[in-house]
Amino acid sequence: MKCTKIFILALLVVASCVREEATSVGTTPEVEARVDGLLKQMTLAEKIGQMNQVSVGGDVANYADAVVKGRIGSILNEADPAKINAFQRLAVEESRLGIPLLVGRDVIHGFHTVFPIPLGLAATFDPALVEEGARVAAVEASAQGIRWTFSPMLDIARDPRWGRIAEGSGEDTYLDCRMAEAMVRGYQGAVLDSTSMAACVKHFAGYGAAEGGRDYNSTFITERQLRNDYLPPFEAAIRAGALTLMTSFNDNDGVPSTGNDFLVRQVLRDEWGFDGLVVTDWNSMGEMVPHGFAADNKDAAEKAVGVSVDMDMMTFGYLSHLEELVRSGAVKESLIDDAVRRILRVKVMLGLFEHPYVDVEAAAAVQYAPEHLAAACRTAEESAILLKNDGVLPLKDGARILVTGPMADAPYEQLGTWCFDGDRTHTVTPLKALQERFPGKVSYVQGLRYTRQKRDRFDDVVSAARRADVVVAFLGEESILSGEAHSLADLNLKGSQSSLLAALHATGKSVVAVVMAGRPLTIEQDLPHCGALLYAFHPGTMGGPALSRLLTGEVNPSGKTPVTFLRTVGQVPLYYNHHMTGRPYKNETLLDDMDLEPGQTSLGNTSYYLDYGAYPLFPFGYGLSYTRFAYSGISLDREVYTPSDTLSVSFTLTNTGEREGTEVAQVYVRDLVGSVTRPVKELKAFRRVSLQPGESQLLTVQIPVSDLAFYGLDMVKKVEPGEFRLWVAGDSASGDPLSFEVRAAR
Ligand code: GLC
Repeated sequence: MKCTKIFILALLVVASCVREEATSVGTTPEVEARVDGLLKQMTLAEKIGQMNQVSVGGDVANYADAVVKGRIGSILNEADPAKINAFQRLAVEESRLGIPLLVGRDVIHGFHTVFPIPLGLAATFDPALVEEGARVAAVEASAQGIRWTFSPMLDIARDPRWGRIAEGSGEDTYLDCRMAEAMVRGYQGAVLDSTSMAACVKHFAGYGAAEGGRDYNSTFITERQLRNDYLPPFEAAIRAGALTLMTSFNDNDGVPSTGNDFLVRQVLRDEWGFDGLVVTDWNSMGEMVPHGFAADNKDAAEKAVGVSVDMDMMTFGYLSHLEELVRSGAVKESLIDDAVRRILRVKVMLGLFEHPYVDVEAAAAVQYAPEHLAAACRTAEESAILLKNDGVLPLKDGARILVTGPMADAPYEQLGTWCFDGDRTHTVTPLKALQERFPGKVSYVQGLRYTRQKRDRFDDVVSAARRADVVVAFLGEESILSGEAHSLADLNLKGSQSSLLAALHATGKSVVAVVMAGRPLTIEQDLPHCGALLYAFHPGTMGGPALSRLLTGEVNPSGKTPVTFLRTVGQVPLYYNHHMTGRPYKNETLLDDMDLEPGQTSLGNTSYYLDYGAYPLFPFGYGLSYTRFAYSGISLDREVYTPSDTLSVSFTLTNTGEREGTEVAQVYVRDLVGSVTRPVKELKAFRRVSLQPGESQLLTVQIPVSDLAFYGLDMVKKVEPGEFRLWVAGDSASGDPLSFEVRAAR
């Protein structure tokens, strides 16, 4: 008998060690013991209840019975701290086991204090600042009892017709990885405590490649492209300790993510060792039925639990069918135990058992704290991108300024998409900020009430412009025009905004355009009608003061495009890290230069559009400053490396202008020849560098050669020996390459 007990004890020790190594969420033996102890006490019905997430929307009474009976493990869409306390009290004090609820919310770019939309956050190329903003969001939301955010959204997006391009970090995998890590750290905190919100990396996976840019549409991403381009940000977030992940709506190559064994079981669980909580997207389990992948919700529930999806958001498929599936033997109860273990693990690690309630009065005190608003203002400043400036900016002191446009005083629209809790009454608009900055010098004629408004004449605005020295027109998109389910087939400024700008230009006055939008719009036709153009992806609560400080030069713009700006929507998809093709574009003949009756093969036969060429309006990584920067002395520490080496590139950056400024120096690499074709270049590092006028700084950037690894023909991730090129520049289309070689280790 004694030997048996020793043997079982040994097994338990090994099991807990194995489990400790297996988890990616940084659990401890104490957490695991706590979880196992709870699990042992739970009935099958109680276990399944933990796997059920319900959108409660303010109605405590309606869900009280289900909570007390342990049929709900998590709630979303409740943000009132008193109601959250009420829900928790039902779970903790009235249910049989007293397991607290996991309260989730879409805190996507700030809670009450609203930061720029995530595409704007990416434009800062400042992970530390983005982390600070996520921390602010966590402090405000957790104070009200929200301990789980459905953020960061990591979907690589190369099609601006897709409205959710607003919610992610744009087209580049490397930038997306850095932003993912920053937000996970910000939300969860360096160590989990009462201000932590569990991050939820979404939407796993490939959702941003929706065919046609139409939301929810199918995707057809190969495994290689998934592994090289779309999955790395999710892996980076998990390596950063993300506690949860959300499956996506789309079917990729015919398989909806919520039932996708390759994605969830093979890659996420087995390859990456992710042992956090996986939640479906809203009814994405049930949507496997209209997808034609599941016969009914029972079939969908079996498929989802079979690939290790732990929690069901709003299909009620687990609640309705799992018990029957287990009883019939179709689903092993061990699968349920694994799912519930991962759910309880998050609840224990967040400290919900010790602190399920919040102090309602104290919660109010941290909302919109001055330091939060200051962080939001700094972020909005860094997220704006100067795309054109003929010298009209910065605005001159003493100038009579006409402010116009539908976004000049639009406190709701300025907050952008996915803003459930930001209160418009706290928004400071550009009009208010400029009126405060230049008392008595700012006149205002709206011109258009909203961005979709159509209008034939602008006599009122034009006459006001004639009495001003400079016109600042705030244009763009209402917030509803981007975000979920808000795809557009035409990316020009809506309504009569372009006509308004043309009318202002026709007055002969200096015109500045400021565009606030949820995506890169096609603004080529507007550029000739303004002397300067500042692009601000919906900048949030403090967008006004930020834009005012940028327009006056108190702050020098430093944002860079996180996504390619197209000349026309017909160029979609057009992104910087494309493949070379066998016939790369070589400035071929465009329509206006074509002879009559040109010969069939006279136009070059390369990859471009006769009408719009092959280049974008603005490339990835682009942004101007009120000063200028020069790169010199770019050099590598060696000419030949092995895959285990670290490459050092040094360069001198000089501020050659008259004012202080910040440059985002970018390092791109190209693998010339591979077992499969490779992108023409890929971002591998960036540095924000602030310099005084005339100041030079010698910088050295180190890049592990292993960062050049990719999944090649054999679908094994490795660095392939051969010739490489390297650029250091201020955007993805500039600079001259250096060469280096990678040789296999001897
Ligand atoms: C939505 C979104 C997802 C969000 C969830 C909860 O449909 O796709 O991003 O977190 O439902 O609101």
